[in-house]
Amino acid sequence: MSTGQLVLLDHVVAVLTAALWLAAGVLAASSRPRVLVAALAGALAVAGRLALVAVLADRGWWFVQEKVLLGLPLLVVATAAAAVLAGPRLVARPGADAGGLPPAGVVSLLAVGYAALAGFVVTFVGGYPLTWSAGLLTVAGVGGAVLLTAQLVTPRATTPAQAAPGGKVTRRQLVTAAVSITGVYGLALLFVRAPSADAGGGAAAVEPPTRGTPVTGLRGPSTPAVGGAVRPYTVTARTATVALASGQEIDAWTFDGALPGPPLTAVQGDLLDVTLRNEDIDDGVTLHWHGYDVPCGEDGAPGTTQAVVAAGDEFRYRFRADQAGTFWYHTHQVSHVGVRRGLYGTLVVTPREAEAAAVDLVLPVHTFDGVVAIGDDDGVLEQAADEGATVRLRLLNTDSEPHRFALAGTVFRLAAVDGRDLNEPGELSERALRLPAGGRYDLVFTMPAGPVALTVDGEVRLRVGGGDGDVATGEWPELDLLGYGEPGDVPFDLDTAYDRHFTMVLDRGVAMVDGRPAFAQTVNGRGHPSIPEQVVADGDLVRFTVVNRGLETHPWHLHGHGVLVLARDGRPTTGSPLWVDTFDVRPGEVWEVAFEAANPGVWMNHCHNLPHADQGMMLRLRYDGVSELPGAQGGGHGH
Ligand code: C2O
Ligand code: CU
Repeated sequence: MSTGQLVLLDHVVAVLTAALWLAAGVLAASSRPRVLVAALAGALAVAGRLALVAVLADRGWWFVQEKVLLGLPLLVVATAAAAVLAGPRLVARPGADAGGLPPAGVVSLLAVGYAALAGFVVTFVGGYPLTWSAGLLTVAGVGGAVLLTAQLVTPRATTPAQAAPGGKVTRRQLVTAAVSITGVYGLALLFVRAPSADAGGGAAAVEPPTRGTPVTGLRGPSTPAVGGAVRPYTVTARTATVALASGQEIDAWTFDGALPGPPLTAVQGDLLDVTLRNEDIDDGVTLHWHGYDVPCGEDGAPGTTQAVVAAGDEFRYRFRADQAGTFWYHTHQVSHVGVRRGLYGTLVVTPREAEAAAVDLVLPVHTFDGVVAIGDDDGVLEQAADEGATVRLRLLNTDSEPHRFALAGTVFRLAAVDGRDLNEPGELSERALRLPAGGRYDLVFTMPAGPVALTVDGEVRLRVGGGDGDVATGEWPELDLLGYGEPGDVPFDLDTAYDRHFTMVLDRGVAMVDGRPAFAQTVNGRGHPSIPEQVVADGDLVRFTVVNRGLETHPWHLHGHGVLVLARDGRPTTGSPLWVDTFDVRPGEVWEVAFEAANPGVWMNHCHNLPHADQGMMLRLRYDGVSELPGAQGGGHGH
């Protein structure tokens, strides 16, 4: 069973455990039959949870920490107490009603239910890592519920006031005091501030975030490389109503009135010189060069690398087109709205020497108002190609969810991922390709005699060389990139001692997001901007462990650096060195990636499911000695 399935199953069994014990308690309290049956089923469920958590623990401590340290101990203690307090009486009168079960017995049955429920709540709203606050509040909560229940089911004659004449403190009063103190302490701990930085096991920052080179000073050069040209562009952000190919009109936010924005192209070594103007996007805009390792001051992260470009303002971006490949650009301001509505476009840089493919198509896939389109075409694209011609399809996923692609009618190679060439990619056929949100795949094939069709999520969206009708690609197995292509050179030793190692555990939970409590998308239990920023030093070798504890996919994206995939779920890559800027961490997965910190700045590091980023799943990676934009840490909408 996959880790994701185990996580889900454990949720189900946890809820079931709570339900069974609560049922047993309620039946007993109302002197109804079948208490023993419910309790035995509950005990079985407890055993099931112990087994499940044991299996999950083997997948990684992150998946079970709060269960092992808190949820299960509570559950086991409560179950044992119930066995002692209610067990003998129930077993002595199996099947009969539980009339005559002493109040303590009834309370003990319900207490197991409370403990089971509390464990589930901690997992669901708190998650990893378990905090002292969550632990204390849980214990106090269960204790309080038990006390209250005891109060309710205990006959009047033995209420504390009457049971303790002469002003003696009763046991119940003592327990009440202990529970209250625990609860208050747990509450108080909620307000302890998180550390603001994480050094990943390396040296702490020497410079405070307010000192050192200002990030706004880290700008690109003003001239192209020798032999390169300047590529001047002016891109204007404005609202517009744009018709898709089918005629459907989209109330869009656009660059230059088009969906997507103007395709930007360059030859390696050119200077991209792009002036962004904002005509009427009231929320403001920026240009972020997704996957392009630009100098940080050109990165377009509002509130972090620049001020947002308000309506009527402009900003000029300049950087050298050093990386050849398929990239894209998009606004980074309220991006979960802006990108979805159309503030994005493609950026393709071709190598200076190297023959271009005879047919070279740039195919950005995007969902407008629920309609999937390639470019602005929500129908089927047609493309002619001569037999024997080289065809390159540049697939871009500009949505927040993955898309499944398949190519029918030809063998092909996946030549590049995220704009980076693979080493000796082998020939593929009848394979599906799952493209993460934000990611790019370049497919290359030689045009066969017959037609070729590209499907997106099972539907034909592009025909090369004619053809018609459906093609069945739904059953084709998905290509696993971690075993595709041949191993090749990488710029650092994979078994090296990394200078910094950061672990990011992704989940949902209750956390503060932009100053408000929310059921957030969290990193290590926190939401933006209270996730400690990661501090690195120029030249460090950095490793990320990214763990998905939740039930949703998280396309992880670090700005300013391609990362090398080392392993997934403990299994190292066996194929081509795999450099990516966005990688899908599916439920239950654990990814290990590494990169060299060689591009100083303050970089966003976030989930590229943009609504997730908006719901808190976003942090920053800052180089020691680079100072942030003044007033940056608040930067509520800078994503
Ligand atoms: Cu493509 Cu921070 O984004
Ligand atoms: Cu996400």
